[in-house]
Amino acid sequence: MNHHAEILDHASDWWRTAVIYQIYPRSFADASGDGIGDLRGITDNLSSLEVLGVDAIWLSPFYTSPQRDAGYDVADFKDVDPLFGTLADFDDMVTEAHRRGLRVIIDIVPNHTSDQHQWFQEALAAGPGSAARDRYMFREGTGPDGSTPPNNWQSVFGGPAWTRLNNNDGTPGQWFLHLFDSSQPDLDWTNESVLEGFDDVLRFWLDRDVDGFRVDVAHGLIKADGLPDFLIDETVGSMGGEDDDAPMAPYWAQEGVHDVWRRWRRVLDEYQGSRILAAEAWVYPLSKMAKWVRPDEMHQAFNFAYLETDWHAADLRTIITDSIREFAAVGAPSTWVLSNHDVVRHATRLSLGFDNPQGHGIGPKTPDLPEPAAALRRARAATLMMLALPGSSYIYQGEELGLPEAIDIPDESREDPTWFRTGGTRYGRDGCRVPLPWRADAQAYGFSTMGKSWIPQPDEWKGLARDTQAGDPTSTLSLYKNALARRREYATATATLEWDASTPAGVLSFTVGPIRVLANIDGDPIPLPAGEVLASSTPVSDTLPADTTVWILAEGVR
Ligand code: GLC
Repeated sequence: MNHHAEILDHASDWWRTAVIYQIYPRSFADASGDGIGDLRGITDNLSSLEVLGVDAIWLSPFYTSPQRDAGYDVADFKDVDPLFGTLADFDDMVTEAHRRGLRVIIDIVPNHTSDQHQWFQEALAAGPGSAARDRYMFREGTGPDGSTPPNNWQSVFGGPAWTRLNNNDGTPGQWFLHLFDSSQPDLDWTNESVLEGFDDVLRFWLDRDVDGFRVDVAHGLIKADGLPDFLIDETVGSMGGEDDDAPMAPYWAQEGVHDVWRRWRRVLDEYQGSRILAAEAWVYPLSKMAKWVRPDEMHQAFNFAYLETDWHAADLRTIITDSIREFAAVGAPSTWVLSNHDVVRHATRLSLGFDNPQGHGIGPKTPDLPEPAAALRRARAATLMMLALPGSSYIYQGEELGLPEAIDIPDESREDPTWFRTGGTRYGRDGCRVPLPWRADAQAYGFSTMGKSWIPQPDEWKGLARDTQAGDPTSTLSLYKNALARRREYATATATLEWDASTPAGVLSFTVGPIRVLANIDGDPIPLPAGEVLASSTPVSDTLPADTTVWILAEGVR
């Protein structure tokens, strides 16, 4: 039995320290040749993730879907969309991942369904007052003829959060709520048949041996009684308040969601092994976020407060300290994450000199974009620091190649509903979703067997292809591999982080077990201390300049 497989058998708390690699299926690898990634493409390339040294994979949605929001608009929660393959392909993928010692987490999308879901189709046919409509958030309009929406809520993707339907006789009818695209009607999570339906979905996939679920929009399921008006501050962004004092919208983080997680936890606990729930919940402050991971609720929550922290030493130190404290207070590990399919890739984002609220994105007309080499250098320093932090870390596909955000995407190639719902004033998230470069000299850089890509890949990505980086000890890929191996070797993820306060402004220094981490964030160059350098975000000799992180082994350990 290989090392990984042994861990799969014994480590029931695997998720406390796991490095989890996010696969965005449509952009990982395309085995069918249609230009869209698929499950067989994943299975065929799992060896590259085993070599990288991650513990688990998380797959964004591959379920039956009209793909209006890249699969986050689910029409059947219990089947695979033909774009991505079949249930048999899914089973093969899980078997192969487990054989290689990789756990498998899948996305579950409970806040809304696609308008093509059978439940919504039934609701349309059944009309007002029916049990079928009660699964969703249908309301009468206001104003004399009901032509004004029930309240003033805005969609996260821009525009109103309500759409009016016609009755079967053609007259204007009820409105339904959609916090996202109009093709994604929100479910009513106070309705018992919705709860039962999702218990069944969880069991369906647990029976197929998944190791857990990443829960989409886990802060949104329950809405405040009476659906009171709320206006978003557009400069802050729409996913709830991004600083501790901003009022939370009446559709985010309501107390009632916790009953749902307790119920789901009981379902997971019916199963052998350690199956997990990880919350995508944009909730602030951290003390509130930590409620999602109390012992009888979820296991992990994405630490978006960390992701959104600017590249400033003092701010980073505060968020790291607060995260460890707040999650530990409920007995949970902190998670750490810098990139995902909804944010500007951190090889670009950390060097943006301006505010760019989550989901707005950047594109060809965005002024003052950072110089790519300097921005990559900073991203590598950020990653090397993140991978030293105790707890669990998430890696988004392509960051191990140092991919920057794709900027020059032609308007006609864009697919994010944000782009369409804002008339092109927000670029949205396509720039972080471009298919991976596998081989420098192949068409579509080896992403697709037929050389196609559903959205164009930037020319510069040739130089970032996995095959080129694999043989280069100074590449970003080698940096990730080395860091993951050392992290395992020295068990840093279970160590207690101790700050060293003696470093100058702009520099962070801490120990995790036998490793001393020095990160020069934005300070003057400092002399490199004595000791064996185990990992270095960029090559160093005797000084440590800004935008550089090193791991140094304490003396006497070897
Ligand atoms: C989550 C997903 C995002 C999706 C949205 C609606 O935020 O990460 O990609 O668009 O939910 O499901």
